Amino acid sequence: MSLLSVENLTVSFKTRKGPVKANEGIYLKLEQGETLALIGETGCGKTTFGKALLRLLSKNVKFEGRIFFRGQDLLSFPEKKMRRLRGKEIGIMLQNPSLALNPVFSIGEQLSEIYRCHEGCEKKEAEKKAGKMLELVEIAPSRMAEYPHQFSGGMLQRVMVALGLALHPALLIADEPTKGLDPQTKEQIARLIFKLVSKETSALLLITHDLEVAKQLTERAAVMYAGEIVESGKTKELFSNPKHPYTQALLAALPENGLRAVPGQSPSFVSPPSGCRFHPRCAFRKKSCSQIRPKMLELETGRKVRCLLYENYENFEKTEEKANAAT
Ligand SMILES: Nc1ncnc2c1ncn2[C@@H]1O[C@H](COP(=O)(O)OP(=O)(O)O)[C@@H](O)[C@H]1O
Ligand SMILES: [Mg+2]
Repeated sequence: MSLLSVENLTVSFKTRKGPVKANEGIYLKLEQGETLALIGETGCGKTTFGKALLRLLSKNVKFEGRIFFRGQDLLSFPEKKMRRLRGKEIGIMLQNPSLALNPVFSIGEQLSEIYRCHEGCEKKEAEKKAGKMLELVEIAPSRMAEYPHQFSGGMLQRVMVALGLALHPALLIADEPTKGLDPQTKEQIARLIFKLVSKETSALLLITHDLEVAKQLTERAAVMYAGEIVESGKTKELFSNPKHPYTQALLAALPENGLRAVPGQSPSFVSPPSGCRFHPRCAFRKKSCSQIRPKMLELETGRKVRCLLYENYENFEKTEEKANAAT
């Protein structure tokens, strides 16, 4: 049984302009201790996916499909059961620490609160555990009485790591943990997360638009475009030999590839392009790309791509279901 198995997940929001399918037909698996990067441009649906796993989305949301965590369907959990799972089984580092942290409580109080609520610890015991956790993220426990505004961006991100891992969850979802940090701090945070998830043997879902960090930190990667997964595979292989034209365009933004941005604009979620969603921006498009919605094809074990260019790929004999089942 996989730690996490997402099956045909569609997440839509009801909006005044019509339904927005921010995630569509997602299949994804994560085994115990495994690290997976979810990459793609801003606005493609990455945060929606991370929050969907913990059902942390606004009320206008509708889910289809299944999210299995240790074989249990999270979408069928009552809210009370879900609340017990958050933090304890699945930890999350939200995208923006200054919004996630409460400005009127000290760092120590916010960390201690977790142990008091989830583990029923007394004040002293909770403070002791909070201090230990701060030490793990290389912050002196003597700074526990300070408030979020007294911490630098890098330190706040460390606090987020501590909060995310405080209860030793089996899975940590880290949403853009290095956003807005200078290169040196970014590297430190990336290393720290990697060190701690390895130590705790937690699985990591790293949501990022930062390709360098994804490349450094993860074993597997999945590429999202306009709410769909368009390619997945081992991070090393995906980066050295990207198959999907979107992945190829995305990786051209890496410094070693010339820092080129993906040409064109991200599509609308209210009325996405017909056929392949990437076709209006694709340098290799054929006529059929605007008409046929490509299926996810398994090129070889663990390597998948959603693109009509690979339709006649020699190894392709498998149906979409088989490909999805192996994700
Ligand atoms: N609560 C919501 N209501 C309506 N639309 C939403 C909501 N949350 C996200 N979206 C839309 O879903 C799409 C994906 O957003 P998001 O998941 O934040 O992308 P990313 O994290 O990749 O930048 C965007 O078009 C965004 O406007
Ligand atoms: Mg986001």
